[in-house]
Amino acid sequence: MPVPIVNFRPILEATELAVAKNLQQLMDRQWFILGEQVRSFEHEFAATLNTAETIGVGNGTDAIQLCLRAAGIASSKQEVLTTALTAPFSGIGILAAGASIRFADVNPRTLQIDPDDAGNRLRKSSAALIPVHLYGQPCSIDRFSRLARDRKLTLIQDACQAHGASFRGKPFTAFSPYVAYSFYPTKNLGCLGDGGAIATSRKPVAKLLRELRDGGRRGGQVTYRPGINSRLDELHACYLRAFLPHLAEWNGHRRAIAAFYDQALHDCPGVQLIERTEDSVCHLYVIRAAKRDKLRAFLSSKGVGAGIHYPVPMHLHPTFAAARQKKGDLPHAERACREILSLPIWPYMPQSAAREVAERVREYYRGSTRHKG
Ligand SMILES: Cc1ncc(COP(=O)(O)O)c(C=O)c1O
Repeated sequence: MPVPIVNFRPILEATELAVAKNLQQLMDRQWFILGEQVRSFEHEFAATLNTAETIGVGNGTDAIQLCLRAAGIASSKQEVLTTALTAPFSGIGILAAGASIRFADVNPRTLQIDPDDAGNRLRKSSAALIPVHLYGQPCSIDRFSRLARDRKLTLIQDACQAHGASFRGKPFTAFSPYVAYSFYPTKNLGCLGDGGAIATSRKPVAKLLRELRDGGRRGGQVTYRPGINSRLDELHACYLRAFLPHLAEWNGHRRAIAAFYDQALHDCPGVQLIERTEDSVCHLYVIRAAKRDKLRAFLSSKGVGAGIHYPVPMHLHPTFAAARQKKGDLPHAERACREILSLPIWPYMPQSAAREVAERVREYYRGSTRHKG
């Protein structure tokens, strides 16, 4: 049975009527930028996250950039520390704001940014910390919140992979006034193109961010500060509003699939599971795999999709060379990039498909042990 890495069809089928209703409202209203769909979505997303406000923006990269600008971090003399294992766009958002970048290593068991390593890498020019809630697993945000307070740093959370997650019962916005989300289509809450949002519990921060995303304007044609043009589209908000009521159920389904994989693969030779907590919303299901690239090719030959998130640690991308961190400097992230493999997971994924994936993984290692010792 072929198993794709993601499948949108059931999501679109489950939400067809709600999408049609929102699209009809939009066509009747004919207000295509920052109109009632985005306004309503911002309220509904804030209620879902149990926070005061969310601000819809063009994408997750801009969400990060706008948080930094709002915090006054826009100079190359100000350094921002983030994880060496994340999507390159976490770093692109930092450079877009005009700040410098530096990377911390990950905990090898969880692959989340390590707060001790981050603390050791701070220096005089450090201005902000951007921990990432990678793969839908909240990182140790309580530790980062303390670190930021003690060292007087701005704390921005990259929650682009963690829609609907919280930390031990508390919303992410309880730990810092800036939480960035992406609605890239494959996310737990995605739209049909690029989109993003920032969550905050502080009204003045929300007001500033609303200006910054809209060219520094305050609703009219006068610009008051050098903002950017990064607004969530009304069209995307029509879909997001239809998807949002399903988020908790979809996250629950992801958790169930992840638990199934855990059970099916925990004793598989060649596979090492990655630790996660109850708080994870299981955006990706990632394993460490011996002979990772060969396993991936084998799965592909059997019709099973698998991805690598991410194949190159951040400090080894040419774009981030100015961080001056070389091969060997962040050993846990470097090793993880050679071993990690993301298995298929999506809302409505049948358990039979997860069973097929797990059986194919086991089949590969049975063959590889038999033939190659
Ligand atoms: C962890 C992380 N940060 C930032 C981004 C950037 O989001 P976007 O693609 O919406 O700009 C993404 C998504 O690719 C991501 O996964």
